[in-house]
Amino acid sequence: MIGRHASPAAVVLLAFSALIQAVPFSSALHKKTALVLVDIQNDFITGSLGSPRASSILPKVYQLLDNHDWPFIVASQDWHPIDHVSFASAHPGLESGDAVNITFLDTTTKQETQTVYANHCVPETWGAEIEKGVQTRLHYLEGYKTPVNYIKKAQDHSVDSYSAFADNQYHRFTTMHSELTIHGIETIIVTGLITNACVRGTSIDGIKLGYEVILIEDATDSISAEIKAAAITELKGWGKCVQVMNLTDWETANPTKRGFREL
Ligand SMILES: *[C@@H]1O[C@H](CO)[C@@H](O)[C@H](O)[C@H]1NC(C)=O
Ligand SMILES: *[C@@H]1O[C@H](CO)[C@@H](O)[C@H](O)[C@H]1NC(C)=O
Repeated sequence: MIGRHASPAAVVLLAFSALIQAVPFSSALHKKTALVLVDIQNDFITGSLGSPRASSILPKVYQLLDNHDWPFIVASQDWHPIDHVSFASAHPGLESGDAVNITFLDTTTKQETQTVYANHCVPETWGAEIEKGVQTRLHYLEGYKTPVNYIKKAQDHSVDSYSAFADNQYHRFTTMHSELTIHGIETIIVTGLITNACVRGTSIDGIKLGYEVILIEDATDSISAEIKAAAITELKGWGKCVQVMNLTDWETANPTKRGFREL
């Protein structure tokens, strides 16, 4: 209540808080919850490792970006040097889909099996770019209200990185865990490509690091329904368990003001 003795400063403050309330969304809506977009890159959609199923996730991802208010977003990208260990072209005689045993960077007595693929997600190529509709939305959000942590992963020639948190040997961690911690995030909503590789790795590391992990099943996909279903079954059994639900069910459980922005 502004009485006779209200100071000019108080009046300004009240006017300002009325302005803030006029903004049609609440930053408290998905408090402590971050949206994680795993490798939604051209090469995994219509590029060298593309699949006809991949683009089905895009409307769901757009909906998560357009209709919800996130305190923090993580967007990961595979970001491989041209002779990366995961490229068949770096191993004479091997073809995409073959496997090779490689020595751990920090323990020469240990080996891991690396599957090799067609060249993909090489920096400065179209295939490495985040899909245009997703990238446009991220540029809008980061210029307006939402910090976005872009994770460029598997830049090291000698080790692959499925998870956005760390490489496959836990040789080196990305900034993802520390950034989530700084932003007070406790729950991560995981989406992206592909379910049985980088989405799987990111979800499992999320569980290991103590996050509540929710996978939006229609905002992730793989090269076949069977491979996707097997990965989801495995994830449901991990630790205190990855929670798996579709976007409709998640939105029902997390109501928000919708459509504050039309692209
Ligand atoms: C990798 O190592 C395992 C265990 O030593 C072995 O069974 C497998 O055949 C090796 N795979 C390749 C592709 O060399
Ligand atoms: C979401 O999952 C529920 C079951 O929990 C199901 O009834 C509903 O049809 C699903 N919706 C979509 C759009 O897939």
